[in-house]
Amino acid sequence: MFDVDTLPYYNPSIERKIAIITGGNSGIGWYTVLHLYMHGFTVYIFGRNSVRVNKAIDKIIREAKHRYETCKDPYLKSIIHMGDIIYLHMDLSDLHSVDKAAKKFLKLETKLDVLINNAAVMALPYEITEDGFEIQLQTNYISPFLLSVKLLPLLQIAKGRMISLSSIGHNLEQMHFKLNQSFDYKPNMIFTWFRYAVAKTAVIQFTKMLSIKYPDVLCLSVHPGLVMNTNLFSYWTRLPIVGIFFWMLFQLVGFFFGVSNEEGSISTLYCALSEDLSLDNDNGKYFTTGGVESTPSRIANNLDNAASTWIWTIHRLRERGFEV
Ligand SMILES: NC(=O)c1ccc[n+]([C@@H]2O[C@H](COP(=O)([O-])OP(=O)(O)OC[C@H]3O[C@@H](n4cnc5c(N)ncnc54)[C@H](OP(=O)(O)O)[C@@H]3O)[C@@H](O)[C@H]2O)c1
Repeated sequence: MFDVDTLPYYNPSIERKIAIITGGNSGIGWYTVLHLYMHGFTVYIFGRNSVRVNKAIDKIIREAKHRYETCKDPYLKSIIHMGDIIYLHMDLSDLHSVDKAAKKFLKLETKLDVLINNAAVMALPYEITEDGFEIQLQTNYISPFLLSVKLLPLLQIAKGRMISLSSIGHNLEQMHFKLNQSFDYKPNMIFTWFRYAVAKTAVIQFTKMLSIKYPDVLCLSVHPGLVMNTNLFSYWTRLPIVGIFFWMLFQLVGFFFGVSNEEGSISTLYCALSEDLSLDNDNGKYFTTGGVESTPSRIANNLDNAASTWIWTIHRLRERGFEV
């Protein structure tokens, strides 16, 4: 597993580095924020619930202080300068909220070093948002697309990076499905995974397209690992009676194949900070657990598919009044 202490540390009083992460209040995102903060970044958490996010911020700051105070390496201690963590409201299930958050950020900052599209939902029952998209497609793909495109000018100014959290689950899409293919079939327990796979394939395709269209921004997608103790599984584990069965199943999978929440953040952190990655050699690549370069599915890797996903999305956003 890649050692995050080898990633660059910044002193915010000398060089102010700015990152945005969506959904940094739990799971993998929580540890991503912790390490970015300890590496000197000003981290904006774009989240939908102020109580949950502010509680997470307090806890992250306490954890960072504890780690600093108990750090036994004097050199490491001398280069750690805590950054800052700021909450900004954004609900990915509402395109207007995404647009508003992007506009607010554009007024607050003049550059953006790292954008991490981390927030997602998984395996929910079929539901259509107010904007008219299936809930997983909008939360995991359409809204991050809108947010990223709106923030691209600031990423370009900083020669920044955009990291998209996809998933190994994208491999379930073995044919190029149309994004408006609803998969509203029973049983939900099976077809919900196809909806998740379609959204996570689109995430990789969009990241690849961005890397081609905007070669001055390093765009990478990530599968963080199987991280079974995050809130991503809570719809299933909170189901009455059968929830306990799902909880045990997920724990079993985690025991044999999983990594911890913190280990789940490593691939994202590697992609966001590593000086080994460059625009010339790495733009558009896909990384898996611990920062290991990998190849996504044939469907996700196909440029014609990626182009049609891109065009479809632009048109759907345009129909809803979002010019991108
Ligand atoms: N865990 C895994 O095994 C695994 C495997 C592959 C890929 N991933 C990917 O890793 C990323 C992080 O997942 P995780 O496991 O850390 O899950 P998590 O603990 O459930 O974190 C998801 C985050 O997304 C936020 N979010 C959900 N819907 C939102 C919305 N409408 N607007 C704004 N924020 C919203 C959540 O906020 P609330 O607290 O408000 O709900 C939460 O902060 C996801 O993209 C996931 O698909 C995870």
